[in-house]
Amino acid sequence: MQIQKIRDDFPILKESMNGKPLIYLDNGATSLKPLQVLEAEAVYNTKKTANVHRGVYKLSNEATELYEEARATVAKFINADYKEIVFTKGATEALNMIAMGYGLSNLKKGDEIITSELEHHSSFLPWQNVAKLTGAKLVKIPLNDEGRITIENFKKALTDKTKVVAINYVSNVMGYMAPVKEICEICSERNIITNIDAAQAAPHLKIDVRELNCDFLSFTGHKMLAPTGVGVLYGKFKNLQQMNPVNFGGEMIDLVEFENSTYKDAPFKFEAGTPVIAGAIGLKAAVDYLENIGMEKIHAHEMELRKYAISELLKIEGIKIFNENAETGIISFNVANIHPHDMATVYDSEGVCVRAGHHCAQLLMKWLKQPATLRASIYLYNTKEEIDTFIKATITGKETFEDGIFF
Ligand code: ALA
Repeated sequence: MQIQKIRDDFPILKESMNGKPLIYLDNGATSLKPLQVLEAEAVYNTKKTANVHRGVYKLSNEATELYEEARATVAKFINADYKEIVFTKGATEALNMIAMGYGLSNLKKGDEIITSELEHHSSFLPWQNVAKLTGAKLVKIPLNDEGRITIENFKKALTDKTKVVAINYVSNVMGYMAPVKEICEICSERNIITNIDAAQAAPHLKIDVRELNCDFLSFTGHKMLAPTGVGVLYGKFKNLQQMNPVNFGGEMIDLVEFENSTYKDAPFKFEAGTPVIAGAIGLKAAVDYLENIGMEKIHAHEMELRKYAISELLKIEGIKIFNENAETGIISFNVANIHPHDMATVYDSEGVCVRAGHHCAQLLMKWLKQPATLRASIYLYNTKEEIDTFIKATITGKETFEDGIFF
């Protein structure tokens, strides 16, 4: 990969932070945005502004074409059909729509929903809510010693009552890839619905929903170079047709009468009101950008930097890495006797952005027996030199706080 050429596409990388060059290692939270994405949005906002699916005039047709082209591009990106792609405002909205639109009407008391302690709150809470509303039961996959979901442990959670499996593809804290394909295979033989949170997978890995054979899969644009405010809900067309809309309003209808109304087919029945037009167009540009480089190359680059960062971190005494063998560019760690928030202030003063906290995964923090962790998350524009600065900042942080002030 031509890293310098890539970096030139990201204007923010020329900015400084606290007087130091910006080193952005919080890509699990959101990614930086390249000029190509900013320009695609600007074209819509400056030259092609009109609402979609409504106007009969040329400008509206052109805006509709751009918006639907975005849907087709996203569909191709994950090997889906364009009718199977619903634009949402993010992964969280998509995951809630599936739980409320599908789970609520298809689950009943006694049914079981398999989930795990590895879930982001956006993957877990919608199903906890559906369980409360329906009387269905939440069942967790016991994590193995490393904190992973394994097929062996998945089978321990599976019963004749299992109706839904809702898990992440890649953990936002551990960076582990769950054995999603194998789980979906087992579930499809038993007519169990699989709902995959791919928010941390889609930006970094090639996803093929046909090969995975999952029922639903969600991700967000902002973690994969696109703007905030746009996300994707993929569902097999037959599932989407069976799923109820949770938002009602303009453009999702077929016929409205006072007593009753009928709705459009998927995906349009899920996009009530004016959709995220500029966001979807920006997401198309982001997908084009990533595909132009190649997902395999991006992943290989992230893994090379991860390997280097881990080997350097392990040279520092008192560092505990929680996910040494993860398959993605997420590194979760702590420094002995120093709260991650304290460490994060030193990283910040060195221009290094990392996340410190529970990462919206409190069940996992409990499992790890940590109040919080530090998380560095790597993406395509990061460099070995940036990892060196991150390591130096880690040493500075350790030296700053290790003596502490004790009374
Ligand atoms: N879900 C995002 C993260 O893990 C915000 O940081």
